[in-house]
Amino acid sequence: MCGIVGYIGHRQAAEVILHGLSQVEYRGYDSAGMAVSDGRGMRIIKDVGKLRDIHAKHNFLSLEGGIGLGHTRWSTHGPPCERNAHPHYDCSKKVAVVHNGIIENSRALKAELEKKGHKFTSDTDTEIVAHLIEEELKGKKSSSDSILSAVRSSISRLEGAYALGILVSGEPRLFLARRHAPLIIGKGKKEEMFFASDMAALLGYTRDFVLLNEGDLAALDAKGMQIWSADGSPAVRSPLHVDWTPQMAQKMGHDYFMLKEILEQPLTLAAAVSADVADGVKLLAGAKRPAVVACGTSYYAGLVLQYLLHRQKRTASAYLGSEYASWHTGAEDVVVAISQSGETADTLSAVRLAKKEGAKVLAITNVVGSTLSREADATLYISVGPEVGVVATKTFTGQLAVIYKLAYSLSSNKKGLEELAAMPSQVQQMLDEVHEPVHHLAKLMSKRKNFFFISRGIGWPCALEAALKLKEITYLHAEAYAAGELKHGPISMLEDKVPVIAIAPSGALAPKMESNMRECHARGASIIVLSDDKTILSEGEHSLAMPKVSEDFVPLFYILPLQLLAYYMTIELGRDPDQPRNLAKSVTVE
Ligand code: M6R
Repeated sequence: MCGIVGYIGHRQAAEVILHGLSQVEYRGYDSAGMAVSDGRGMRIIKDVGKLRDIHAKHNFLSLEGGIGLGHTRWSTHGPPCERNAHPHYDCSKKVAVVHNGIIENSRALKAELEKKGHKFTSDTDTEIVAHLIEEELKGKKSSSDSILSAVRSSISRLEGAYALGILVSGEPRLFLARRHAPLIIGKGKKEEMFFASDMAALLGYTRDFVLLNEGDLAALDAKGMQIWSADGSPAVRSPLHVDWTPQMAQKMGHDYFMLKEILEQPLTLAAAVSADVADGVKLLAGAKRPAVVACGTSYYAGLVLQYLLHRQKRTASAYLGSEYASWHTGAEDVVVAISQSGETADTLSAVRLAKKEGAKVLAITNVVGSTLSREADATLYISVGPEVGVVATKTFTGQLAVIYKLAYSLSSNKKGLEELAAMPSQVQQMLDEVHEPVHHLAKLMSKRKNFFFISRGIGWPCALEAALKLKEITYLHAEAYAAGELKHGPISMLEDKVPVIAIAPSGALAPKMESNMRECHARGASIIVLSDDKTILSEGEHSLAMPKVSEDFVPLFYILPLQLLAYYMTIELGRDPDQPRNLAKSVTVE
């Protein structure tokens, strides 16, 4: 969602911040800005639009000084425009604040501050933080102690979620605070410190991080940091070194990150299948009522886990993170939370509710040190490296790989584990075979407006994910149905040439799938079939031959050509697959 970067040290802060923000552009944003201080005074540049355009117009690098913070904003309170862009400041323009999250009591605080004469210039909830600090400082002699105490008491009044960076003119420290929103500190090699909402922003400078706990407040100077926990007592947080390199977040010669991330899946799958799942097996082995919570693509991976556990006669229910509060029974003893970012607010709130009721939490995530990994009792990492494209591709197959390993280890399914280990090379072979045919198909399909994806059994989550991929980046209408459901309503929408994309592997469900495809064909639909069976393939107007895989692996295998299809259709339509409109990489609001 929004990105935050802060710097204090011997370099020009604006340079570091501009680079850092450009590394998290993929999270999606509509405006950006930064505040830089040279130790005496502070200047701010902010505007609506993309970083490079704002830079071309205002020149961020004209902000001189070694202390600063910047932000890319994804609007929540008020439309995208210059005055709503961060940093926000107080009446005297001496306090600059950047913020991710939502301050829930902002209305009440704003009314209180307005009564005291504060004038607000934006529609945001963030601006109140700058005015609160200004109000706290009123009548006090400005000193490091008075500024720290003003920051602390202002933050104590906030309700809701925040990752905050605060710069006070003339003050040689940066302040940061977090609650229900990610914020990390980066340690430079010599006399420089960083902070950011996302490690990817800082990988060009450091791979040594310190993770703040919920409710922490920190002050950074060039030499180090001071941290206080929520109760105000001094705290020490353990350091973390990550292996991710800045190169992992490069396009490596591809036009878009999405294509790079689709094509590198044989490699990322190899990393994911070697995950150590022992802690997960331990937790699930004793579980009587396991549940799965996740959102979006991760939820579809969760449906696959639900399916595999059911096959082992373990009753597990998969819930959307945002719906868990309405459906939970309180009897769930282990909750498996799946989230590539580990920061999804809906998933985290489900986790917190489950924990309150005594459940143990098993996280499956890509991000070491993410909020989810830190709140969980055990974490399984999918280790697929940074995913820069906004839509999930390699993280989905990475989640599936870890899910298969977890489920098969739980049931000591040796054959399944062997098949899983062979997946990366099989996937490579399949990608090589389908790439060109899919590219060709995309050219034909990009002229159509509505799409249906159908499958049965474990193929159904794959149909859901394929439809989500297509609509996210092409902005075309796509729906997924369990194939048997079509006749219960949606079949009325089929008319001449509407594409119905059928995920139809051979096996026990194939005869029913074939009937469903014929039902669609009879209504004039154009059938595009993916199958490993020649007879089934012959049912389609267009067909894509797939290699034969065990039924369990259908979602992992069949999603790859469908990711490619969505990608190439988006290119045909002249749209940006890496940064689709209205979407953000991690959704940190409920
Ligand atoms: O970071 P998470 O896996 O928790 O994210 C969940 C969803 O927001 C995410 O999968 C979303 O649906 C993506 N746009 C999928 O491409």
